[in-house]
Amino acid sequence: MILQLKGVLTPAELASIHHELRRAEWHAGRESAGAQAALIKNNEQLSHDSVAMIAIRQRVLAALDRHPEFFAATLPRRVFPPRVNRYGGESNFFGDHVDNAIRFAPDTGLRVRTDISCTLFLADPSDYEGGELIFRESNMERQVKLPAGDAILYPGTTVHRVAPVTSGFRIACFFWIESMVRENDRRQLLFELDRSIVRLRDAYGDNEHSVALTGTYHNLLRQWCDT
Ligand code: NI
Repeated sequence: MILQLKGVLTPAELASIHHELRRAEWHAGRESAGAQAALIKNNEQLSHDSVAMIAIRQRVLAALDRHPEFFAATLPRRVFPPRVNRYGGESNFFGDHVDNAIRFAPDTGLRVRTDISCTLFLADPSDYEGGELIFRESNMERQVKLPAGDAILYPGTTVHRVAPVTSGFRIACFFWIESMVRENDRRQLLFELDRSIVRLRDAYGDNEHSVALTGTYHNLLRQWCDT
């Protein structure tokens, strides 16, 4: 399931993040890449413990916490501390790859299995040319370029790349989620069931059928989740 989350960040939060970014220092992204990725990864990142990165990370995690679809779609067990990257100038692309299955957070030693990848766009599409996030699905490709403040969730198993940025700068926050429900298909089924229950309750209020369906959701979750 590839899912767009709209309006994760408010305009005020975006403005404050861009204020932080003005004092940020950028470093070559391939410093944190594995041997294979280093050959195809050409971008810049904020260091994980910089003042700007810590401030931005707090804002992003708080925003994810209150987003109604983030929890339902990911059923998070652990979230890798969000990082920020930038594509533009000489450092402007990331070729086809699958993200490493396990990420180790610096300092804390936190291990996160990357069931779900997330990119939260911080630059508006009008700020740069190119820079599409492109997913390869069997014999077709799917391109994504979202408004600032929107995020895309996609399975960690997906082959993807970032197309070269030919002008301006593409700035985004990226991180991974280890889910309480490891299998993509089960997580998608639970998400679709959850959304349908929410819509039924909005339309008709609670009744014995919505209570029964909610029970089915939780009984499935109990079977499939690891906490
Ligand atoms: Ni990636």
